[in-house]
Amino acid sequence: MLLPIKSNPPDNPSIGHATSAPKNPYILHKFFASTIISGLLWFIAYYIITNKLISFWSNLRDWILKIAISNDHGGTKLKMSILEYLKDFNYDVINLGTDNNDSVDYPDYAYEVSKLLKDKVIDFGILICGSGIGISIAANRYSHVRAALCNDENSAELSRLHNNANTLVFGGRTIDHDMALKCINKFLNTKFEGGRHIKRLDKLSNPPLI
Ligand code: RB5
Repeated sequence: MLLPIKSNPPDNPSIGHATSAPKNPYILHKFFASTIISGLLWFIAYYIITNKLISFWSNLRDWILKIAISNDHGGTKLKMSILEYLKDFNYDVINLGTDNNDSVDYPDYAYEVSKLLKDKVIDFGILICGSGIGISIAANRYSHVRAALCNDENSAELSRLHNNANTLVFGGRTIDHDMALKCINKFLNTKFEGGRHIKRLDKLSNPPLI
């Protein structure tokens, strides 16, 4: 059976549509005040939820991120303080030595990290020798390695943005400890920009034969 269609009730501020502002000035104030308060509450809720999600995601990412660190005798001191610093995060850190000041050959330590990068056991490597130069040269001989010797935060950031560097290199005798930690922070938290840089990285991996 068809039910009779009810017409809208006559104009009555207390029954009016939820979206239309009431005409009585007192009720009008109440209407705007409640709109502002509920807007504010929504904003606070949104702010809390998004911040929670962001910090949840970055914690999760820290748990997932695997890093290997290696050095020759010129980098032992800096490596020890980096290991201490990384303890405050959830990163999975593999220390590949050396852990003392006995003289060793930096190419052997560059190899250790490069091998783990190749096998995808780690996401990033950190290498240290006295100047950072020898160990960079050694690591960059492997075509899958993009090792960036950095002395400041800007270089560390650019090495990720433009070069998709997978290894951060320091000179244990040339960089100040605090600066090295800042560089690590920047490096691990910057994403590769992609785009125009991709074809350049392809050329790095496949240089023309000489
Ligand atoms: C070792 O004394 C030193 O030569 C090495 O750590 C590095 O600086 C080489 O580039």
